[in-house]
Amino acid sequence: MTDMNEVWQMMKAYADAYAVPILRDAELPLFRGLIQSARPERVLEIGTAIGYSTLQMASCLDADSQITTIELDPDRVAAARRFIGMTPFRSMIRQLQGDGTALLDTLSGPWDFVFLDGPKGQYSRQLKKLLPQLAPQAVIAADNIRYHDMLYIEGTVPHKHRTAVGRLHEFLTLLGDTRRFDTVFFENGDGMTVSRWKG
Ligand SMILES: C[S@@+](CC[C@H](N)C(=O)[O-])C[C@H]1O[C@@H](n2cnc3c(N)ncnc32)[C@H](O)[C@@H]1O
Repeated sequence: MTDMNEVWQMMKAYADAYAVPILRDAELPLFRGLIQSARPERVLEIGTAIGYSTLQMASCLDADSQITTIELDPDRVAAARRFIGMTPFRSMIRQLQGDGTALLDTLSGPWDFVFLDGPKGQYSRQLKKLLPQLAPQAVIAADNIRYHDMLYIEGTVPHKHRTAVGRLHEFLTLLGDTRRFDTVFFENGDGMTVSRWKG
């Protein structure tokens, strides 16, 4: 078993070397604080990358909690498996490889905490599929909501990002339905929403 400080350093070095986007240091206090206060037993993550956020969550959870995490890219799945294997948290983590939105059809939950950090244009579809899988009072966190500030541009969003930005607005509209969710939008960094499901 490798010391966790060494694991974090190795993961950051790997992410730098291979340009893998992982949670930034400035986001960690909010992210870890959320997990620590929610104390979820069943966690779903879409967008494992190399397992950095997965391990950040695992290191805040009780040992009998379980995280299911989905990643599309097989090289990243393999890197995550190596890093997770170095830690005492490996038995808490189930890795799935494939498209997060499609794989939701094979899962049933119930999830106490969901971290959406895969393709931003898929958040609204993923949320719709997730509704029947959410435990009462489940927390849903979604990262990169500002989408490099393209969320705020009106009319001049570069063509290749237009669909994703439109879908992010749709996602925010879904989360803004106060009959279903209480939502806070943390706008620092690239923006993260945190919502409590009222179902
Ligand atoms: C921002 S990174 C995730 C970072 C990670 N959560 C962390 O903070 O350590 C987004 C990841 O989503 C993955 N991804 C992209 N499309 C996906 C899809 N359709 N299903 C699952 N994962 C996907 C990318 O390969 C990438 O590794």
